[in-house]
Amino acid sequence: MNPLDSHLDPPLGTKAIEQIVTCTLDELAPQGLFSFNAPRQTLMGEGAILKIGALLTHLGVTRVLVVADRVVYEKGLTQSMQRSLERAGISSIIFPGIEREPDEAVVARAIELLISERADFVLGFGGGSALDAAKAIALAGSTGATLHTMAAPGFSGSRSIGLGAVPTTAGTGSEVTDISVIMRADRQHKYVIKHLDLMPNLSIVDPALMLNLPPRVTAAIGIDALTHAIEAYAARSSHPLAKALAICAIQSIAEALPIVVGNGRDMAARLTMATAAYKAGLAFSNSGLGLVHAISHQIGARYQIAHGIANGILLPYVMRFNALVCQREYAAIAHMLGVTHSGMTQREQCMASIAAVSQLLADIGLPGNLAASGISPAEFSSIAAEALADVCIKDNPRDVTEADIVQLLEEACST
Ligand SMILES: NC(=O)c1ccc[n+]([C@@H]2O[C@H](COP(=O)([O-])OP(=O)(O)OC[C@H]3O[C@@H](n4cnc5c(N)ncnc54)[C@H](O)[C@@H]3O)[C@@H](O)[C@H]2O)c1
Ligand SMILES: [Fe+2]
Repeated sequence: MNPLDSHLDPPLGTKAIEQIVTCTLDELAPQGLFSFNAPRQTLMGEGAILKIGALLTHLGVTRVLVVADRVVYEKGLTQSMQRSLERAGISSIIFPGIEREPDEAVVARAIELLISERADFVLGFGGGSALDAAKAIALAGSTGATLHTMAAPGFSGSRSIGLGAVPTTAGTGSEVTDISVIMRADRQHKYVIKHLDLMPNLSIVDPALMLNLPPRVTAAIGIDALTHAIEAYAARSSHPLAKALAICAIQSIAEALPIVVGNGRDMAARLTMATAAYKAGLAFSNSGLGLVHAISHQIGARYQIAHGIANGILLPYVMRFNALVCQREYAAIAHMLGVTHSGMTQREQCMASIAAVSQLLADIGLPGNLAASGISPAEFSSIAAEALADVCIKDNPRDVTEADIVQLLEEACST
């Protein structure tokens, strides 16, 4: 016998080891957990839409309700998709009635069609407006629930109808989020519905569908993606997966957004933007947003300011406010934006990131303040109160009060 062995404990049996491991695990208090929800399948790249028939055949789909943006439909952008479905022997019904910021009424009409036509798959085709409508239609059509019920905390219905998303804009990331934003009947307020089953089963991202987007729409929508990435990176609930996607998206957007605004037919830059919007969507859907979106949801609906424009204006103001607690995050963002040099302090890098965001807005022709928005100072308090009740506020990295939001609006509304 080796003399050393006499000093060792006798070997433990497998059962004893199992007991120790189980006891140790049971005694842990779970903390710092994060989950990640994403589409089951994504096809991305030039011409990807031509594969839709084969992909839906594989999923066993027989009848598709296509929920399409009106302009996109009128421009003929749905035709290749329809031909691919036909070739695969899949029947389709087109609902081409989605306009900017869909409301309860249009969603209700499409749900009636879904039920009467007995479709087994809903395909959103268009910008965030069409995709959000399709997502709400598929979940409401499966559960029979109202939008009000679906938006309420604790809603536990589940989707039985298949869901796919084909974005024709590169911004909202709705093709990879478990969120749907629908206007209430008064068109003054929005339902922001978050539910695991709002995540599409299939996303098809084809930059060829985005070549016709006008420069101003491209710019506003692209800044929405940048806002998603920056808010997701700094959000209270951010985590390593979300941060990795967000920081990568920021770098791509800084490079590709000026190009797609200046040359909309640059396919490579359109693909870079579409991929960045996808990454930013995954990042924020899994980590949360912040004060920019909390305010923009209110002023966008009340003053008919496009979602991306409102976000772009608010972003530098909110970054200045959040800088108190986000110096490290914003310094990392400055690196991605290419505005750091050796010898800069972290604080200087942080401030450089904010200046770079303002510069990008100016370069692509977006407004830098809310002076022309028609927002009256008398409404600052009620906007602030509603922003504090918005679902996005809880993930803002800095604590926020009503007075903080009023001050921010005062700054953003002055020239
Ligand atoms: N679900 C989410 O996670 C999420 C995230 C952010 C924003 N949103 C919501 O998304 C909506 C905004 O979506 P959006 O910014 O993509 O804009 P949008 O879908 O409203 O489209 C903007 C305009 O571009 C046109 N358009 C779309 N694709 C085109 C194309 N390829 N060629 C030419 N014109 C085209 C549309 O007809 C529309 O007039 C808002 O309702 C917002 O609240 C949702
Ligand atoms: Fe957004």
